[in-house]
Amino acid sequence: MLTVAVLISGTGSNLRALLEAAADPGFPARVVVVGADRQADGFAHAEAFGIPTFLVPFRDFETREHWGEELDRQLRVWKPDLIVLSGLMRLLPASVVDAWSPRLINTHPAYLPEFPGAHGVRDALAAGATRTGASVIVVDNGVDSGPILAQERVEVLPDDTEHTLHERIKPVERRLLIDVVRAIARGELELTAFSTS
Ligand code: GAR
Repeated sequence: MLTVAVLISGTGSNLRALLEAAADPGFPARVVVVGADRQADGFAHAEAFGIPTFLVPFRDFETREHWGEELDRQLRVWKPDLIVLSGLMRLLPASVVDAWSPRLINTHPAYLPEFPGAHGVRDALAAGATRTGASVIVVDNGVDSGPILAQERVEVLPDDTEHTLHERIKPVERRLLIDVVRAIARGELELTAFSTS
């Protein structure tokens, strides 16, 4: 059974989808802990599924490196086989990426390498894109620049707002994330082939 730690910052709707998938006894992975850099609403999903949580508030640390050290320490307690960044809106310091990648993956609401960064949906709209997408990648030391594990296109509609477009992208992200986690757990997707160092 593949053990998974999920890191979030926000509502955690993709986390919830993964928790629901993993509640199926036939699913080959289990979420063992959910962590966040702030008091995230998504903790409620973890609590609903009886999954432990930990909080490492970014603002409590003087540097990103010190925050990363504590995050890494918390993750090591759980020894997850895989870490999923599911809406974690912080760049990880290189020490954390180097310690866990390629067993460290991220979901992103754009068709990478298009529109990386914190505002993938907004940036696609601002660029006048007629299609964007969703991606699941291995995290490296760049910004959403790691090897792509899965991605799919999503059309942009003429009257889309950032909210409506993001809400259409998220179900695609969820499906891709669940498929990728399942494939890793079954050994159909070998993360060592995507080493980033
Ligand atoms: C998701 O769309 C995720 O891909 C995105 O934040 C959203 C979190 O939604 N992450 C990024 O943009 C990271 N660059 P959720 O909290 O409802 O799962």
